[in-house]
Amino acid sequence: MEMVMTETEGAIGMITLNRPDKLNALSVPMREQIAAAVRQMMADESVRVVIITGGDKVFAAGADLNLLAEKNSREMADLNMGQYWEPLARAPKPMIAAVSGYALGGGCEVALMCDIIVADSTARFGLPEAGVGIMPGAGGTQRMVRALGKYVTSQLAMTGGQLSGDRAYQLGLVSELAEDGQTLDAARKLAGKIARMPPRAIAAIKRSLADGADLPLNAGLALEGREFLLLFDTEDKAEGMQAFLEKRKPEFTGR
Ligand code: COA
Repeated sequence: MEMVMTETEGAIGMITLNRPDKLNALSVPMREQIAAAVRQMMADESVRVVIITGGDKVFAAGADLNLLAEKNSREMADLNMGQYWEPLARAPKPMIAAVSGYALGGGCEVALMCDIIVADSTARFGLPEAGVGIMPGAGGTQRMVRALGKYVTSQLAMTGGQLSGDRAYQLGLVSELAEDGQTLDAARKLAGKIARMPPRAIAAIKRSLADGADLPLNAGLALEGREFLLLFDTEDKAEGMQAFLEKRKPEFTGR
């Protein structure tokens, strides 16, 4: 059985983590397969948006501790774990994490690499690395502090505590709180809406958010301004505006 499964549902790409007996703990083969799955989705022109899920019991309980237990710094550096996250962290298409159950450590970091997080009340977000003598190393402190601020992030990372889906929703980490067991359906509905949008506009919004987030406001506004202007030469801009004026639904082509 593959540890990471991929399928497409129309314009929606689905990546399912599938190592349930180990709570989807992230081993090297699993990381390789996640990276390959994301690359496959980026290369598939029919895919406009991707959902990454662990199913309705668990998202992922972090790095596989069997992998880390015997490693020293040099061996970890040689493993170059960052390479496996590059495709996800830099994915040009919108990524939605559908989270039920544990999203801990690397699992939480995978969710944080996505653009949108959908969860139900069973979700448990946490950065428990300090409890095993290390710290988050796949963007956990950096992305979490940007999403939630210093005080919640410090508490989570320093205590190993967890945020429930409801609490994470209140705090703005979760974009949409689904009924229990309905996380994937809610993610599919969101993905469907995004898939019907003009892809160039969606990609420009993603770039503007990702590349602009850490710039001073003026530089971020300049970046946004360039992306905004470029969309005026797209066929989908002409179609979107024309459809509105003609009181019909637009048909976007991605051009
Ligand atoms: N690495 C390796 N194996 C893991 C794992 C991880 N991060 N998380 C869970 N597993 C394995 C367990 O060893 C167990 O395997 P076994 O049945 O062969 O013994 C199986 O998954 C089920 O986990 P278990 O601990 O029995 O489930 P639980 O419901 O009692 O507890 C957790 C769930 C998530 C609280 C607990 O598994 C946990 O703390 N995991 C580690 C989380 C962590 O520290 N992640 C960050 C690592 S840097």
